[in-house]
Amino acid sequence: MLRNRPTMRVPALRFARERPVVCLLLLLLALPGIAACSGTQSALDPHGPVAESITHTWWVLFWGAAIILALVMGLVFYAMFLDPERKAQLPHLPFLIGAGLVFPTVVLTALVVFGTLVGRDITRAHDDALVIEVTGHQWWWEVRYPATTDAPEVVTANELRLPVGVPVEFVIESADVVHSFWIPNLGGKVDMIPGRTNTLRLEASRPGRFRAQCAEFCGAQHSRMGFIAIATDADEFERWRRARASAPEASGPGLARFDALGCAGCHGLGGRAADGGVGPVLTHFAERPTVGAGAARNTPEALRAWLTDHGARMKPGSLGPAERRLDDADVEAIAGLLEQQR
Ligand code: CUA
Repeated sequence: MLRNRPTMRVPALRFARERPVVCLLLLLLALPGIAACSGTQSALDPHGPVAESITHTWWVLFWGAAIILALVMGLVFYAMFLDPERKAQLPHLPFLIGAGLVFPTVVLTALVVFGTLVGRDITRAHDDALVIEVTGHQWWWEVRYPATTDAPEVVTANELRLPVGVPVEFVIESADVVHSFWIPNLGGKVDMIPGRTNTLRLEASRPGRFRAQCAEFCGAQHSRMGFIAIATDADEFERWRRARASAPEASGPGLARFDALGCAGCHGLGGRAADGGVGPVLTHFAERPTVGAGAARNTPEALRAWLTDHGARMKPGSLGPAERRLDDADVEAIAGLLEQQR
């Protein structure tokens, strides 16, 4: 009994020794959490070959770790309930060499080989890849489809379209601080670093809408730096791209107020580039799924709420001029102008 005393002083071990079944149930209770990991922003709900490889790797690691945990816990319980006399007679050295040295070496070596092969496969370059340039800003996304031999350049913001079944090479940059580009349903993330160009290769294998999220803390509105990636079949993507090549007309009293209020200093609109180019381009704004780079769904109410104080309440700290509050007439004029942009 004396030998067991030090163990019994640790409350968690004492609890485990007295209620092993409760401990096992607590461990099992943690498992259903994984069942919730599906949907439009989940790395465990893959919609492309890269995401499938990553998810497969995740499950291999999960089940491997679960089996090893079960093994270790089994040995812990065995040791706790083992008669001290028998414990002293067990062959300690072979067990230490086998379970403490050989087993982890074999497991970790296998994982390194497996991980390296998966990594090489998912970063492979494709000659026929569609190039999309994405630049992170505090706290929005600039998206550029460079001109190709049969399609003109398209510049947009806070929305992303990609064709199903076509490899996409994202060229990733940042205009200010470190962000991270991540569409969990389609694949891994990559940092957006000022002064450096990174690449990320992804492909969507099924149509869908997937929420993307900045995955690196980048300031006050990091958590509201998102967008919806829309994967459509290749024909629909080409139609979208051609439609985006021509800008809808911007006119009327809304445009006069847009210019008079100085909005054009930061935002491009209707095919006009912004004077300063520091804010998201608003051409085709009405077709974007969200307002404020993922801050709210793009509804007439959300648009007007944003315009009232330039997002100061919906996205506190956002770098637009929060002090510039618009009266109801101006909100209506600018909202009408943006709603023409489809
Ligand atoms: Cu951008 Cu976090």
